[in-house]
Amino acid sequence: MAKILKKRILAPSIKEFIVSAPLIAQKALPGQFIVLRVSEEGERIPLTIAETFPEEGAVRIIFQEVGKTTKHLGLLKEGEEILDFVGPLGKPSEIEFFGNVVGIGGGVGTAVIYPVLKALKKKGNYLIGIIGARTKELLIMEEEIKEVCDEFYVTTDDGSYGKKGFVSDALQDLIKEGKKIERVIAIGPVPMMKAVCNLTKIYNIPTIVSLNPIMLDATGMCGVCRVEVGGETKFACVDGPEFDGHKVNFELLATRLKTYLKEEKISLEKFEKYSPMASPRGESE
Ligand SMILES: Cc1cc2nc3c(=O)[nH]c(=O)nc-3n(C[C@H](O)[C@H](O)[C@H](O)COP(=O)(O)OP(=O)(O)OC[C@H]3O[C@@H](n4cnc5c(N)ncnc54)[C@H](O)[C@@H]3O)c2cc1C
Ligand code: FES
Repeated sequence: MAKILKKRILAPSIKEFIVSAPLIAQKALPGQFIVLRVSEEGERIPLTIAETFPEEGAVRIIFQEVGKTTKHLGLLKEGEEILDFVGPLGKPSEIEFFGNVVGIGGGVGTAVIYPVLKALKKKGNYLIGIIGARTKELLIMEEEIKEVCDEFYVTTDDGSYGKKGFVSDALQDLIKEGKKIERVIAIGPVPMMKAVCNLTKIYNIPTIVSLNPIMLDATGMCGVCRVEVGGETKFACVDGPEFDGHKVNFELLATRLKTYLKEEKISLEKFEKYSPMASPRGESE
C-alpha cells in the first residue's frame, strides 16, 4: 500500500501524485518506473518516476488519464492508498557528459524526460529543451524544464502557445541553424518519437527514445512488452525502457499498442457505467 500524500491537476486529464514509497525513493534512478495496481481486480500499469524525495520517503508520478486504470487512479484522493506500488523497475538512463544534448518531451512524455534532463545537467551537459503539446492547456512542467535547460523551446500543434508545429519541427530548425548536437533524447507518443528519429538519422545524431509498450509482469518473464530493436526482440521492462531510437521498429510498436483496443474500450465503458466512484464527465476539482 502506498499513500497519496499530495494530488494536483496539471492539465485537463493530467494529474500529479506525490506518493509515500520510502524504499523506492531511496533507490530509484532517472529513467526508471514503477508498476501499480489500484484495486484487487485491477490491471498493472507502468508509470515513470518523475522525481524522488529520499528524505521525505516519497516519489512523484505524473499520468495522463487515457483508459480505465489511469481514470480510476485519477479518482483517488489525497490520503487514500494505492494497493500495489512496485519499483524501481527498468534500466536507468545513461547519464554521462555528452556535450550538447537536446531533450524533447511530447505531451506527458515531458514528465518522463524531466528527471533525465536534471541528471544530465548535473553531469555538465549543455541542455536544449523542446517540449510540445497539442494545445496550450495540455502543456505541462514548462517552468521546471525551462529551469534545468540552457536553451528552451515550446511548440503547440495548433499554435495556441510557443511556436506552431511539432517538436520535431523545432529540432529541424536547430539543425538547419547549424547547432552542434551530440545527442537527442525524445520521449512522447510513438509517432513523435518516430518523426524525431527519422530526422536525426539523416544527420547521424545518436537518439535515445523511451518505449511505452503494454506491460504485464514487468519482470522480463511474460513477454508482453516485447519490442523489436535492431532486428532483435527486446523486453522493454528489463532491457529498456530506453533504446537506440534509430534501431526501433516503431510500426510494430504502434500495431502492438492497438492489440486490446476493443477490450480497453469495453473496460472503460463498464467502469464509467457501473463503478460508483466514476463519472463519465470526470472530476471537477
Ligand atoms: C515504462 C513506461 C512508463 C510509462 N510512464 C508513464 C507516465 O509517466 N505517465 C503516463 O501518463 N503514462 C505512462 N506510461 C503509459 C501508461 O502506462 C498507460 O497510459 C497506461 O497503461 C494506460 O492504462 P489505462 O488502463 O488507463 O488505459 P488502456 O485502456 O489500457 O489504454 C487506453 C488507450 O491508451 C493508449 N495506451 C495504452 N497503453 C499505452 C501506453 N503504454 N502508452 C501510450 N498510450 C497507451 C492506447 O491508445 C489505448 O487504447 C508509461 C508506459 C510505460 C511502458
Ligand atoms: S512486461 Fe512481461 S516481460 Fe516485460
